[in-house]
Amino acid sequence: MKVVILKDAAAVARYGADIFINHINQKRDSVLGLATGSTPVALYKELIAAYETGRVSFKNVSSFNLDEYLGLPSTHPQSYRYFMKQQLFDHVDIDKTQTHVPAGDAEDPFAACEAYEKNIKQKGGIDIQLLGIGRNGHIGFNEPSSSLKSRTRVKTLTRATIDDNARFFGPDEYQPHLSITMGIGTILESKKVVLLATGENKAEAIKATVEGPLTAACPASALQLHEQVVLVIDEAAASHLS
Ligand code: F6R
Repeated sequence: MKVVILKDAAAVARYGADIFINHINQKRDSVLGLATGSTPVALYKELIAAYETGRVSFKNVSSFNLDEYLGLPSTHPQSYRYFMKQQLFDHVDIDKTQTHVPAGDAEDPFAACEAYEKNIKQKGGIDIQLLGIGRNGHIGFNEPSSSLKSRTRVKTLTRATIDDNARFFGPDEYQPHLSITMGIGTILESKKVVLLATGENKAEAIKATVEGPLTAACPASALQLHEQVVLVIDEAAASHLS
């Protein structure tokens, strides 16, 4: 596991974006694994700027997002499909038919999970997976106690995650407690993983990921099993490392 510690969140976004830009420029038809949440927003801004200045094209790229709320249609402003459109897809030349986000409004969510796994395999697997990390060490919506071999599935969110994400929902807005998420096993099959973390509130989760035991209590610690992982973190997120 490579750990890159940078001064602040802006530097993390630039460094992370450069990894993706270089990857796409070496393999034009890269299969990207993408994340939502607040951390990758600055990285997506860097990617959009790089596209606008001709440093990168997403024309032949395809993508799979980590997760989606169950029970929200893709047009809902809090859905992760909507987030991706707003934060990235609408601003670059990616073919939207090649962008995949788990179907939060699927009639049969269990079948949708199986189909998602199949689709990733048919594309030849994910080349490079972007991750954020929850304060409790979750990756995707794989909450503590998730099986380290888990696949894409329906998952209940923990109270901690529901509370953390409440900031995105209005006071009277319905906030789902269920999600569809790639599993830890799915994530570990990506050829390369780039995890971003910024801010002191992620410092304990980063410490557990890097220095803790391999345990389902900290899902991100499963990344210790992967040979191509880079953690790009700011000084605040690194502040509990020994
Ligand atoms: C989002 C996701 C989550 C977030 C994590 C951190 O697709 O899978 O695991 O990466 O909750 O969220 P932020 O970046 O908002 O702190």
